[in-house]
Amino acid sequence: MSVNNRAFVFRKLDSSAIGEILDIENEVQESPWSAQKFLSCFGDDLYLLAGLYVRTKLAGYAVLMVNSPDAELHNLAISKTGQNSGFATLFLTYLIDQCVRMSIENLFLEVRESNTAAINAYKKSGFIQVGLRQRYYQTDAGSESALILKREIAGKG
Ligand SMILES: CC(C)(COP(=O)(O)OP(=O)(O)OC[C@H]1O[C@@H](n2cnc3c(N)ncnc32)[C@H](O)[C@@H]1OP(=O)(O)O)[C@@H](O)C(=O)NCCC(=O)NCCS
Repeated sequence: MSVNNRAFVFRKLDSSAIGEILDIENEVQESPWSAQKFLSCFGDDLYLLAGLYVRTKLAGYAVLMVNSPDAELHNLAISKTGQNSGFATLFLTYLIDQCVRMSIENLFLEVRESNTAAINAYKKSGFIQVGLRQRYYQTDAGSESALILKREIAGKG
C-alpha cells in the first residue's frame, strides 16, 4: 500500500520495537509513557500493539486493550515527520478492521480537551463524544478535562 508514494505496512509489535517506540513517544506525547508501561502491555494478552512502518522505519504505533465486547485505544502516536500525511486516519481504519474481526462492539478512548489534532482525527474516523472527565489530566497550569470518545464498530459505519 502507499500514501503519497510512500509504501507502508501495519505489523503487530513485540518488545524488540521498544527503542523506536520510545523515540516517537518522547518526541510527540505531552505525557510520554515509560518503557516499563509499554513492556507491561507486551506481556499482557489483553493488549494489542501495532506499528505502522514506512519502508523499514516505524512511523507510528497504537496500543489497543481488548476487553470484549468493547475495546479501548490507550495510545496512538505518529512520528513528527509522519504527521499530517493521513497516517492516523489509516491507522484508525486498520484498528477498526481489527475490532470488526474480533467482533468488538464499541471502541472507546480518552483524549485531552486541548488536543485538537487528535480530536479532529478521531472525529474524522467516526468517533463521537460520549462523556467528559473533569480535571482528569495534570498540567503545568493545573488540570484539564478528558473527552471520552466512542466509535461504534457493529456495522462499521
Ligand atoms: C493526533 C495525531 C495521531 C494525528 O496524526 P496524523 O497522522 O497527523 O493525522 P492525519 O494526517 O491522519 O489527519 C487526520 C485529521 O486529523 C486532523 N488533524 C491532524 N493534525 C492536525 C492539526 N495539527 N491540527 C488540527 N487538526 C489536525 C485533521 O482533521 C485531519 O484531517 P484532514 O487532513 O482531512 O484535515 C498526531 O498528531 C500525533 O501523534 N500527536 C501526538 C500524540 C497524540 O496526541 N496522540 C493522541 C493521544 S489521545
